Amino acid sequence: MRALCWVGADELAVRQVPDPELRNGHDIIVRVRQSATCGGDLPLIAGRVPFVAVGDVLGHEFLGEVVEAGPEVRRHRIGDRVVVCASVSCGSCWYCRRDLHSCCDNGTADPAVAEAAWGHPSAGAFGQPRAMGGFAGSHAEYVRVPYADVGAFTVPEPVSDDRALFASDAAPAGWMGAELGEVRPGDVVAVWGAGAVGQLTARAARLLGAERVIVIDDRAERLRMAERHTAAETIDYRLADVPAELRERTGGRGPDVCVEAVGAAWDGSDPRSLADRFTGRAERPAAVREAVHACRKGGTVFVLGEFTGFVDTFPLGAVTNKGLTVRGARQHGQRYIPMLLERMARDELRTEHLATHRLPLEQGALGYALFRDRLDGCVRTVLTPDAPPSAG
Ligand SMILES: NC(=O)c1ccc[n+]([C@@H]2O[C@H](COP(=O)([O-])OP(=O)(O)OC[C@H]3O[C@@H](n4cnc5c(N)ncnc54)[C@H](O)[C@@H]3O)[C@@H](O)[C@H]2O)c1
Ligand SMILES: [Zn+2]
Ligand SMILES: [Zn+2]
Repeated sequence: MRALCWVGADELAVRQVPDPELRNGHDIIVRVRQSATCGGDLPLIAGRVPFVAVGDVLGHEFLGEVVEAGPEVRRHRIGDRVVVCASVSCGSCWYCRRDLHSCCDNGTADPAVAEAAWGHPSAGAFGQPRAMGGFAGSHAEYVRVPYADVGAFTVPEPVSDDRALFASDAAPAGWMGAELGEVRPGDVVAVWGAGAVGQLTARAARLLGAERVIVIDDRAERLRMAERHTAAETIDYRLADVPAELRERTGGRGPDVCVEAVGAAWDGSDPRSLADRFTGRAERPAAVREAVHACRKGGTVFVLGEFTGFVDTFPLGAVTNKGLTVRGARQHGQRYIPMLLERMARDELRTEHLATHRLPLEQGALGYALFRDRLDGCVRTVLTPDAPPSAG
């Protein structure tokens, strides 16, 4: 089959790779209909994620149709239209039983590296290097989905492909940021980043009862989109002192909940140095720092942006002296996706406007260039492989 592969720092190519096969009774094979770019892919494409290897298939936000199912699969049949959680979890370990799916003990194919880096392995993920818990990604004609009864969800009839696609990653991430950030009715919530994740955090905060949501970015078209679709207020960080502006707009107190949906900025260290990549010496948490500074005393800062390792210049003094709660997580999509699909079916949660660009898989490199450089108003590029329906 054809797949979009990493072939070197900032180099992608569509290559012929082996078709995926069922390896376990709980697997399904999905024929991919739509697969989206995500901000989480960008450090990987730049070669900054340890162990990324030539030939790795990218992509983790996807939707498609079941073409094969293992004998133990109960919830899916051939022909079902499914959206698949971007991370891979077993559904039955200690963590999964407590709905902490992205902390799964059994999701990753290769736990050793994560154990060394973080103390414990975390869940697997599609389109990440194998050593970082990865399974082959979804920018391909077909993808193998392990633990299919846990991570794949049938899309209800009224929800279009274009909408359901984002239930894979951006929507559960945004929901989790707002929910675990403990947004309460009447709160003022600030969100750093107006990409798909930040915009869906803003929408989730509204649905959880936030009185005001303030979205921060420097891309005018993304900020306009957040205003239009979530009735958010906005701040262009190039034109304002963000913490001062937030204080001003909240009667001097600061937002109750601050969610960071940006990720690491890069300080120009050598991206080929394993030490730099792994210690995260080059990762700069600019938006996290600002969120900690701006948050009201006793408030919560939730970090959605993905950081590989350690970051310097974290304002721990502000955390202690202001009594802040700082949390972060990879999304526990298995816990949120059914609820998100129901909200999509009721038209409470609309996501299709985020797919600003649609391109065939063959043009994946161009799709990522548009996305990375935010050209032509790009928020998400959706790739369509268009494999023949009967194959697999
Ligand atoms: N926790 C999870 O499970 C999860 C899931 C999906 C994505 N993510 C992460 O969330 C982050 C956002 O993802 P995305 O797909 O929306 O990415 P994106 O690249 O589309 O959006 C990031 C936005 O942040 C803006 N930005 C950059 N610096 C900023 C600053 N200092 N202040 C405010 N805004 C700033 C950029 O202009 C951009 O619009 C990424 O780090 C991604 O890895 C996490
Ligand atoms: Zn993602
Ligand atoms: Zn598990």
